[in-house]
Amino acid sequence: MASKGLEGVVAAQTALSHVYGDEGRLIYAGYEIEDLAENTTFEEVCHLLWFGELPNASRLSEIRRQLVAGAVVDERVLDVVRAAPKHAHPMSTLRTAVSALALWDPDTEDMSPEGNQRKAIRLTGQTITLTAAIDRIRHGKQPVPPNNDLGLAANLLYMLRGERPDELSARIIDAALILHAEHGMNASTFAARVTAGTLSDMHSAVTSAIGTLKGPLHGGANEQVMVMLHEIGEPDRAADYVRARLASGGKIMGFGHRVYRTLDPRAPILKRLAEELSARMGGAKWLQISERIQETMRVEMERRGKQVYPNVDFFSASAYFTLGIPMDLFTNVFACARMAGWTAHVMEQYSDNRLIRPQSEYIGPKHRKVQPLQERE
Ligand code: COA
Repeated sequence: MASKGLEGVVAAQTALSHVYGDEGRLIYAGYEIEDLAENTTFEEVCHLLWFGELPNASRLSEIRRQLVAGAVVDERVLDVVRAAPKHAHPMSTLRTAVSALALWDPDTEDMSPEGNQRKAIRLTGQTITLTAAIDRIRHGKQPVPPNNDLGLAANLLYMLRGERPDELSARIIDAALILHAEHGMNASTFAARVTAGTLSDMHSAVTSAIGTLKGPLHGGANEQVMVMLHEIGEPDRAADYVRARLASGGKIMGFGHRVYRTLDPRAPILKRLAEELSARMGGAKWLQISERIQETMRVEMERRGKQVYPNVDFFSASAYFTLGIPMDLFTNVFACARMAGWTAHVMEQYSDNRLIRPQSEYIGPKHRKVQPLQERE
């Protein structure tokens, strides 16, 4: 019998991360997510995912150098971005641009572990550069190349705005990148592993993943959260909005998860960061609306006996908005982070590969016979 949505199916072994759904815990390679968010940077987490260990100081400066150097995007790929219509969704442009990176990457068809490590490093930096470039180009501005003096998080804001960000803004993006970098067998990672499982190349695998992340049930939810906060507009209207939406059978974006049966551990970390940010830069209204939604959802879900809690997207939305990131770019920021996890999974898949090919349960008609064309209705 098919398990709808493959719920409960263990599709691969991984040493990269684990979601403890009942406890609301998340580990990357043995480290608790709270510990990593508090005490490391995104570059350290990339190293952990790709090489299994946190780097020492000299390895860290080397990987930082490689990541920023590798973040440069070929002018011919930027031309692909320039050719995209201005109204295209930034995730569609990113999917096409990342696919185009393969055409000029020196290692595209190199399937050696070293070739794949080089591609993982480049793809992670380049996704950040592309995300910023997509936004600038669609607004008629020149893309800004990465700055060697800045880390990846600060570079994202720098390349978007064309000026160096303040420390708090960069730290918040850095934490958001850490929190979104990896998450077990989520839908986009699964898509990447299925593609890699055919021994197709890394660019093909992560292009599959970007297309999968785009959907509103996965990475696209953070944009939808902000759309909802705008629709609500004022804290006083939040409770009625939530009740009306639930009564009409709708879902509240930024809530619920296939694996967590309690609060997503990433949500309170992002909430704290969003609070810190709003104390400094404004945007308290979005947090007030979010809190009212959370409270109404708690009561309504308890009443219905459902275990639906805020997920990672709920508080990232107001933090990104306060940082001035356009709403339709939120999912691209998610992709910047998850590129580290996808590429790590692709390398893990190659290291012990077996074609991923499940079966389906046939529910169509049986024992039919082809009628001659003239006799068909
Ligand atoms: N708002 C309201 N009700 C929700 C809900 C939400 N966000 N998420 C789940 N539920 C309800 C479902 O309607 C279902 O009710 P039912 O049993 O009466 O049909 C019940 O809770 C169980 O949820 P289910 O749809 O089986 O969960 P799933 O594992 O199939 O889906 C998500 C998980 C993430 C797709 C789902 O929770 C969702 O659509 N959330 C909103 C989008 C989102 O924030 N995605 C980002 C995930 S990180």
